[in-house]
Amino acid sequence: MPTADRRIAVPEGERQYHIGLGPGELAEYILLPGDPERTARIAALLDDVEGSQQHREFASATGTYKGLRVSIVSTGIGTDNVEIVVAEILAITEHPTFIRVGSCGALRPEMALGDVAITTGAVRLETTTSWFVSDGYPAVADYEAVIALIEAAERLGVPYHLGITATAPGFYGAQGRPIPHLPIRYPDLAEDMARQRVMNFEMEASALLVLAGLAGCRAGVVCAVFAQRTTGDFVTGAAKDAAERNGVVTGLEGLRILADMDRRKAAAAADRWRPSLGI
Ligand code: URA
Repeated sequence: MPTADRRIAVPEGERQYHIGLGPGELAEYILLPGDPERTARIAALLDDVEGSQQHREFASATGTYKGLRVSIVSTGIGTDNVEIVVAEILAITEHPTFIRVGSCGALRPEMALGDVAITTGAVRLETTTSWFVSDGYPAVADYEAVIALIEAAERLGVPYHLGITATAPGFYGAQGRPIPHLPIRYPDLAEDMARQRVMNFEMEASALLVLAGLAGCRAGVVCAVFAQRTTGDFVTGAAKDAAERNGVVTGLEGLRILADMDRRKAAAAADRWRPSLGI
């Protein structure tokens, strides 16, 4: 009889400490917003909601979107919170697919406020993932998720950009934003990242991509452009709501397309989706 490892703080198949959810309460297709208030706004777009709850910054809802059972779980801000959410979701699901729907600051001048940015990979400026993988290990988006998000944006007519994201461990100093009363070490960080053709800054993607990848699960990231770093513009008011909606509908449709890909793989007895299976 195997003895339980008492060091494991994420008990498989039990109600989880931070997200407050247990087995069966989450769908296998999961959207991860950062903002807990965004969970209710996304849930309002579902056909029906079977359950919702909130514990600290982790607000969740599960329901049906165009016939697909989906869940929404907010991560709060930062890669340390993402680690908690991913670890706990993995303990109570079978083989989840994750799409982060967040916000970001754009580093390319042609990216307009309200457009969306689809991440192909992320620069690990944070250190949460260093507790799991070595320096130089890449944070890569799952190719099926990238294709599904591109297809979703195309179908919905949402303007999108594709490229590498920098995941920062802070919003101000760690993204090269001057702060009135605090000296920052890298005031040219945004320009430095832009020179390396990095597309955008945000605060969660790399952790999701690394941890989901280590678990053998698919993950993708779509972020609405809230800030344009080349001009200093920041989205406000109704334009902010519209920007958020662009990211959210792209993420929801992306999950539906991934589920379609899964059906096509199952029909062809294929492990991986390929263009000849159709989309
Ligand atoms: N989120 C970020 O992390 N940075 C921005 O500039 C905007 C949203």
